[in-house]
Amino acid sequence: MVSAAPAPPSQGATRILTGLLEARTGQVLSENRAWRTETALRPVMRTHGLADIDALAAKLVSARDPRLEEDVVNALLNNESSFFRDLQVFDMLYRDVLPQLRDTKRDRVLRVWSAGCSTGQEAYSIAIQLRKTMALWRDWRIEILATDISTAAIDQARSGAFSQIDVQRGLAIGDLLKWFEPVGDDWKANDELRQMIDFRADNLFTPKAPTGLYDLILCRNVLLYFNADRRKSVFDLLAHHAHPQAVLFLGAGETVIGQSDDFQAHPTFRGAYARRFASVAGAAGALRNVG
Ligand SMILES: C[S@@+](CC[C@H](N)C(=O)[O-])C[C@H]1O[C@@H](n2cnc3c(N)ncnc32)[C@H](O)[C@@H]1O
Repeated sequence: MVSAAPAPPSQGATRILTGLLEARTGQVLSENRAWRTETALRPVMRTHGLADIDALAAKLVSARDPRLEEDVVNALLNNESSFFRDLQVFDMLYRDVLPQLRDTKRDRVLRVWSAGCSTGQEAYSIAIQLRKTMALWRDWRIEILATDISTAAIDQARSGAFSQIDVQRGLAIGDLLKWFEPVGDDWKANDELRQMIDFRADNLFTPKAPTGLYDLILCRNVLLYFNADRRKSVFDLLAHHAHPQAVLFLGAGETVIGQSDDFQAHPTFRGAYARRFASVAGAAGALRNVG
């Protein structure tokens, strides 16, 4: 006997779920991504003993259960990521950007921020690149901050554990064997790598984790689903924490053009962005403040 397919969620239930996601994260769940809602929420419904999306929405409204809300938000976020995603960006980082920062930063401090880091592949990819040239960074203080609103993604990132499928996406076999250890069916980043990265659950709209200025900021494939006002406020935040000589990378489909006056196309690194100052005096002031 063929069992009947579950009834599709009511419009009201869908609105409650997308409303919660947007209010918490700024992410707008567009029509073309709404199809995945039900699949994404199935484990949450199972954990909380709820029959369908309508029951889930009703409980969200009636119970005001923070644990349920967090589970729903975590499940609806798009955490797609991979090691060395957009390889040309990492090639440029390794060949040009990191050497330039090493040549020009007299304070011998390198601060990197992976904003919207998901399960950590981006931050681990940079850590691997830095480790490969560690002899050149002797006497440097290197800090890598990696933040994401998803508590589940940050927990996984911090654990350093990745499935066989995850490591096959972008990680060269040599890097896998050098920087990861097999643990059961998974691979775990070794202590040396994990200790380089400070993973923090943090919302870009109520940020607590970033402090001071960063030399390299990656905020890739995060802004895509924000509305224009939200995007602007993230750019304000990134500008606030960007060293005057910082290099900013966005995702391939993202740009600052027409969205922020604080950044401009980087004069040297194609596809990257640099701080833009309204006047020469402004730039000089910013540099003076850095010391
Ligand atoms: C598609 S992933 C991109 C991951 C990584 N940057 C990359 O390019 O591979 C987008 C990440 O942004 C995070 N995110 C969405 N809204 C956020 C917010 N308001 N604050 C912090 N992170 C957020 C999501 O949880 C998700 O992990």
